[in-house]
Amino acid sequence: MKKKALILVGILVLIQLIRPEKNTAAIGPVIVADELLITDEVAVILEKSCYDCHSNRSNYLWYAEVAPVSWLIAHHVNDGKEHLNFSEWNTYNNFQKEHIIKDLYKEIKEDKMPLKTYTWMHPEALLSATEKEVLLSWVKSLNKN
Ligand code: HEC
Repeated sequence: MKKKALILVGILVLIQLIRPEKNTAAIGPVIVADELLITDEVAVILEKSCYDCHSNRSNYLWYAEVAPVSWLIAHHVNDGKEHLNFSEWNTYNNFQKEHIIKDLYKEIKEDKMPLKTYTWMHPEALLSATEKEVLLSWVKSLNKN
C-alpha cells in the first residue's frame, strides 16, 4: 500500500515537468475591434466571465500551475479560442462573424457560458440576471450592423 502511494506521488511530481504554454500573449488590456461596440459596461462583464477562454489573455489562478489541472485548463482555453477569440475578431470573415453573433445570443440566453467546469472555481464569473440582459442587448445591437 505504502509503495503504491509513493509511486503515485512520484508520478504527480514527474508530470509537473510537462507544462503547457500559457495564454498570456497580450498582457494588458484585451484588444478588441471597434466594430464589436463593446461599452465599458459590457467590457467589465466579458473580462470577468469570458476573456479567460475567448481572448489572447487569460488570468491564471495558482492551481493552473499544477498538472494535470494545467493541462485541462490549457485544453479549455485552446478550445474556447478556436471557437471564438475576441482579440482576433478582425481576422474573421463576415460569415464567421454572423455565425458567432448568432451563437453568442444562444449561449448566453441558454446559460451555456461560461462553462460549468469554470464557474465551479470562478463563481464570480457566473452571469447575474442583469448581466445577462446587458450582454443580450449588446449582442442584439451587433446584429443591426
Ligand atoms: C472555461 C473557458 C470558457 C469560458 C470562461 C467561456 N467559454 Fe465560451 N466556449 C468555451 C469552449 C471550450 C467552447 C467550445 C465548446 C463548446 O461550445 O462548449 C466555447 C464556445 C463558445 C461559443 C460558441 C462559438 C462558436 O460560434 O463556435 C460562444 C458564442 C461562447 N463560447 C461565448 C462565451 C461567452 C459569451 C462567455 C462569457 C459569458 C464564455 N463563452 C465563457 C470555453 C469558455
